[in-house]
Amino acid sequence: MTLSRSATARGSRAALSLIGNTPLLPLHFPAERVTLFAKCEFLNPSGSIKDRLAKCVILDAEERGLLRPDSIILECTSGNTGIALAMVGTVTGYRVAILMSESASLERRRLIEQFGAELVLFKSNEGYETGIKLSEEMAGRDSRYFLPRQFENPLNAADHEHTTGQEILEALPGPIDAFVAGYGTGGTLAGVGRALKQRYPKAKVVAMEPAEAALLCGEMPCCHWIEGVTGGFIPPLLRSAPLDDEYKVRSADALAMTRRLHRDFGLLVGTSSGANVSAALAIASKLGPDAKVVTILCDRAERYFSTRLFALGT
Ligand SMILES: Cc1ncc(COP(=O)(O)O)c(C=O)c1O
Repeated sequence: MTLSRSATARGSRAALSLIGNTPLLPLHFPAERVTLFAKCEFLNPSGSIKDRLAKCVILDAEERGLLRPDSIILECTSGNTGIALAMVGTVTGYRVAILMSESASLERRRLIEQFGAELVLFKSNEGYETGIKLSEEMAGRDSRYFLPRQFENPLNAADHEHTTGQEILEALPGPIDAFVAGYGTGGTLAGVGRALKQRYPKAKVVAMEPAEAALLCGEMPCCHWIEGVTGGFIPPLLRSAPLDDEYKVRSADALAMTRRLHRDFGLLVGTSSGANVSAALAIASKLGPDAKVVTILCDRAERYFSTRLFALGT
């Protein structure tokens, strides 16, 4: 597999300063007598929480001398990580190649290409493992490739511990009762979970899972509509997360809550944000009106135009 485009010119790094330090927004649900605290990760410059990972991994690799001017950042991902690496790669002046399945949505492909990154597509029936194997083979053949390896890279969770987690602690004075989030790599739950537990050992860390693929509850992976979470296996980083519990959200309920976030709150976020809020609302309702429950609004809605989220009547 060869890549056609020549190395990019060095970009301006100014956009990196927009990553992180996102607001923690109170969301009032008067009927349930609950106020949730939602970390607005969709406000990161490429539109998702994954900007943090991309910035941290690329700057760390640069500092450790692992990147050269002709390096190519290569990751297998069909979602937000690809868009984030494409954005951070272009502003830091590195080429980026994203391996993704042919079935990945057109809007995601277009966003990645818009940042100047290249797409290497593999057949949709070949599965994620094929993409990972392909990236390892490409890196083995050509030393220009640098692999961030988001699923196993400990920097992923460590960065959330030192940035996302600390930002939540600074924004919310007093004890936190629970933190609720879904998992893709498990980096958010592991890192934020560690930071919150260190300050408030009684805080509960709860993994949101699609009810149709509740792997932590011992169920088999199955189709669900909550894009960005639970990719069919329990990721290695999640094993280091200080989890207290799991909470299942049905895909249909995730869609309904996401639309409520659009229409009642004016927050144009993706389906996993609705799933997280749905789970957090149920947990806060059980804990009582004064409970402080924190969750994550992971990404923006624009990358889901072609999904059920924007289909009328579903
Ligand atoms: C769309 C999306 N991106 C990213 C994440 C974060 O996943 P992780 O830090 O586990 O990779 C989530 C998790 O809820 C998500 O829904």
